[in-house]
Amino acid sequence: MRIDILTLFPEMFESPLSHSILARAQQAGVVDIVLTNIRDFTTDSYKKVDDKPYGGGPGMVMMAQPVFDCFEHVEKLSPQKGRVILLTPQGQKFNQTKAVKLSAEKRLILISGRYEGFDERIRIGLGAEQISIGDYVLSGGELAAMVVVDAVVRLLGGALGDEDSAKDDSFSEGLLEYPQYTRPEVFRGMKVPDILLSGDHGKIAEWRRQRAVERTKKTRPDLLKENQNTLKITEGD
Ligand code: ADE
Repeated sequence: MRIDILTLFPEMFESPLSHSILARAQQAGVVDIVLTNIRDFTTDSYKKVDDKPYGGGPGMVMMAQPVFDCFEHVEKLSPQKGRVILLTPQGQKFNQTKAVKLSAEKRLILISGRYEGFDERIRIGLGAEQISIGDYVLSGGELAAMVVVDAVVRLLGGALGDEDSAKDDSFSEGLLEYPQYTRPEVFRGMKVPDILLSGDHGKIAEWRRQRAVERTKKTRPDLLKENQNTLKITEGD
């Protein structure tokens, strides 16, 4: 997969992209992540990327021209057409289902904004979809782009050391993940549940599912409602 990120702050991505899974996935050639600075496409000597909103109001708006010129440059860097995404609190809420869908694409082009938002003609003209990572306002779309990149890349084949670990993630089946334990068996008086030491894989799987359902019911009942049909949860669960 190729991921292009258009941003005013490419340096913000340096650390997250150079550690752990994201670093390994790039080294292994699973993903190619390319950062491009929108400010390099300004046409005036002040390198202006924002301006006052028509109609008045507080804050500044990202201008269409630098984003369009940057996009047109980036688009030509590869013959592969990309799915274009604007990171904005006005977008559709990002979740694991969306991450799975995006992980099937060959190329993503993410555009991170700053200021009060994008000139609407950017969304329309570039045919971009909008993604929000949650109902809160960040200072810019960079952190949101990193969240999307991380969630998507770890789903790509070869990105994780253990192929199974993405399958059991929270949300992957509409449930939160079951409780996990590692050594020692007793820590500060708290013991690992006997069933996990039993070696009975059938019973362990059943216990894990029950705990996952229980946990989800308690903290995220909205997830259970959303996935009731596919989960086939019975009264006893
Ligand atoms: N930019 C600012 N806030 C955001 C959010 N919640 N999601 C995506 N992009 C954003």
